[in-house]
Amino acid sequence: MSGKINIAIDGHSSCGKGTLAKHIARELGYLFVDSGAMYRAVTLYLLNEGISLQELQDDPAILGNIRIEFRYNQEHQFYETYLNDISVESEIRGMRVSRYVSPVSAVKVVRDFLVKKQQQIGENKGVVMDGRDIGTIVFPDAELKIFMTASPEIRAKRRYEELEKKGIHVNYQEVLHNIIERDAMDSSRSESPLVKAKDAITLDNTNMTKLEQAKISLQWAKGVIASIK
Ligand code: DC
Repeated sequence: MSGKINIAIDGHSSCGKGTLAKHIARELGYLFVDSGAMYRAVTLYLLNEGISLQELQDDPAILGNIRIEFRYNQEHQFYETYLNDISVESEIRGMRVSRYVSPVSAVKVVRDFLVKKQQQIGENKGVVMDGRDIGTIVFPDAELKIFMTASPEIRAKRRYEELEKKGIHVNYQEVLHNIIERDAMDSSRSESPLVKAKDAITLDNTNMTKLEQAKISLQWAKGVIASIK
């Protein structure tokens, strides 16, 4: 046994899953994987190529033209999402992709394609992956599963501030509306709906600082790692 574990972080959109996952990965020396970025990259590809969901379902081989990678940006010190060798990190976070990503991620062929890739990444353990179905479908055997939630208003405020910081200007009400709509779609879709895994720990961070969340989650992770050694 490698002594490493996989950590699944699921929950609603804009709960800070990515921030927490990155922090845990950095502290443990694990690989961080943003599975939402993979759904966003597929969405961008379809939008750019003008391919409808019906066309994709009729010809799933189209997905074979999509190569998604995470490359480390030394200057900004974070992993950037690349779609077919082009950095799409900013573009996939904008409203154009956000508006369309839920219907795309509800398509079975898209999920099968990405889940397979995600499972390959986690084969050797030592991965912190955030998403919606990581603890239930991608890594049902993950040694630690965290389910994050927070009120829609606080999540909209955080997402709005994050986008503004990146120079992406949006309307707060539109962000809030998009979050509420995505919650409903992500939780009600028939393919891998967002549900809490039975063995996941709930982390409601409405009234928690980033540091408080990071501390408690790292304690959980270290506890699990110590118990399997
Ligand atoms: O985490 P995010 O908001 O960047 O995710 C974008 C969309 O992708 C979200 O609406 C739900 C979908 N998603 C998913 O269905 N399964 C995942 N594992 C990750 C994201």
